[in-house]
Amino acid sequence: MPTSLPFSPAWLAFAQAAQNASRRGDRLRIIEAAGLRIDLTAQAQSEQLDQAAQALLVQQNFDAARAHLYDGGEANWTERRPAWHTALRADNPPPAVAQAVLSERERVRRFVRELDGADAYGGILHLGIGGSDWGPRMVTRALRHYGLRRNIQFASNVDSHAVADAIGQLDPHDTLVIVASKSFTTTEPLANAEVAMNWLRDAGVADPIKHVVAITANVDAALDFGISPDRVFRFWDWVGGRYSLWSAIGLPVALALGCEALDQLLAGAAAMDQHFLQAPPLRNAPLQMALAGIANRSVLGYATLAITPYDSRLMHLVPWAQQLDMESLGKVATRDGTPVGVPTGPVVWGMPGTDCQHTFFQWLHQDTTGAPVDFIVCEQPDHPYARHHKLLIANCLAQRSALLRGKSYEEALHETRQHEPDAQRAELLARHRVHPGGRPSNLIVLPRLDAYSLGALLALYEHKVFAQGALWGINPFDQWGVEFGKLLAKNIIRELDAPSSAEASDQDPSTRHWIDILSRRG
Ligand code: F6P
Repeated sequence: MPTSLPFSPAWLAFAQAAQNASRRGDRLRIIEAAGLRIDLTAQAQSEQLDQAAQALLVQQNFDAARAHLYDGGEANWTERRPAWHTALRADNPPPAVAQAVLSERERVRRFVRELDGADAYGGILHLGIGGSDWGPRMVTRALRHYGLRRNIQFASNVDSHAVADAIGQLDPHDTLVIVASKSFTTTEPLANAEVAMNWLRDAGVADPIKHVVAITANVDAALDFGISPDRVFRFWDWVGGRYSLWSAIGLPVALALGCEALDQLLAGAAAMDQHFLQAPPLRNAPLQMALAGIANRSVLGYATLAITPYDSRLMHLVPWAQQLDMESLGKVATRDGTPVGVPTGPVVWGMPGTDCQHTFFQWLHQDTTGAPVDFIVCEQPDHPYARHHKLLIANCLAQRSALLRGKSYEEALHETRQHEPDAQRAELLARHRVHPGGRPSNLIVLPRLDAYSLGALLALYEHKVFAQGALWGINPFDQWGVEFGKLLAKNIIRELDAPSSAEASDQDPSTRHWIDILSRRG
């Protein structure tokens, strides 16, 4: 029986080194990867921590785990599958899947070129949720400044206000409906697809199903839905939903922004794949972000991670990262089923800067604990207002510096004495102005927000999450936690539909109460 992580030699050494490491940011640590620069200077750092991290990589068989990410080994061990998203964006995919990947990649592009050539469909209604929605939604919003070729509207929530808002902005006679669902059994996209079909039918569109495309790993279900084979684009069960943007799930990106944008997105991610595979540990950006995140989460007591992209175009990056990180790492069981024994996946939250400064930076600076922050910024803006960009950059660097250096009582007292003549009151006010400092952060710098850099950024986070899963010994590619709620929902729907069946059910008192109340509303 292997020693559990918290009592293993390498972990004990890593934890002690992290506790004792410097958090003053006195040694510059910047890594260049796929055109991005990742500054980890403000993370806990020391020679001892670097050495302990190296030993932890060896103890946790990191190299072997990483190799499976690229060679199609069983990276997802509870579902006995590869997690081969790197194959989807490789110029030369592994032979075992090359033909499938390259032919489907070409099918997607040929379809887009056909529609573009025929100037077909000015509108797209995209119906998907989770990993079948966040990626395309986030990318098309982030790159909108390159000009959208079509009016694309996303509806994910089963709350019909979402799909009603979307179709309200589209012409049913000029809209292609995309049903994106890996399983093609998820309630939300299928319920929204029903609304979309009625919308087309009610508008007098002849044979509505001809205006529907499916993107799925369950081709039979899409064909049963009535979608013609030439409108079903597929990916495979060895692609995780939240890692599937690089597959045919990326079709809406090409329809909205062009095939070149999708190709550049994949190219940037592929460049980060090569960096992650080849860079030595100390120069490996995803790995160093992963190690800093493990130190922060499992040793230094930070329960959350804030992501603040200083660019309003990246507004959907936070929810995309929330699913990627929390659905991958919110777990406790290790490969042999025993509990991991240390805190794992952080709560990921955040919002673009500078809005974040006026929303929660008070908490980040002066809360009893605070949280590590990932600052993301583009060196070059895509607007002509140079002054605005300087203000943005200055605010990003200032917040990061304030978190790191803090403000001592003496510095605060010197400040308050400038305007408060009463010495006692000046001392009291100074107590309220102290900033503890030593609060960790990363700064990720993109040259500019283009498809290549965005692809590299997304792959950076994918590999960080994978590396943390490998080092904690948990599976970042399954999601058993979401199945239970879905099953209970099906039971409750059945009782709402047929209240008579409710008596026999074993609901808790509160759920029982609300089923009774709400089922009476019909
Ligand atoms: O949230 C659970 C989940 O299975 C995600 O992992 C997935 O991205 C989402 O639901 C949608 O699933 P599908 O693409 O199969 O509709």
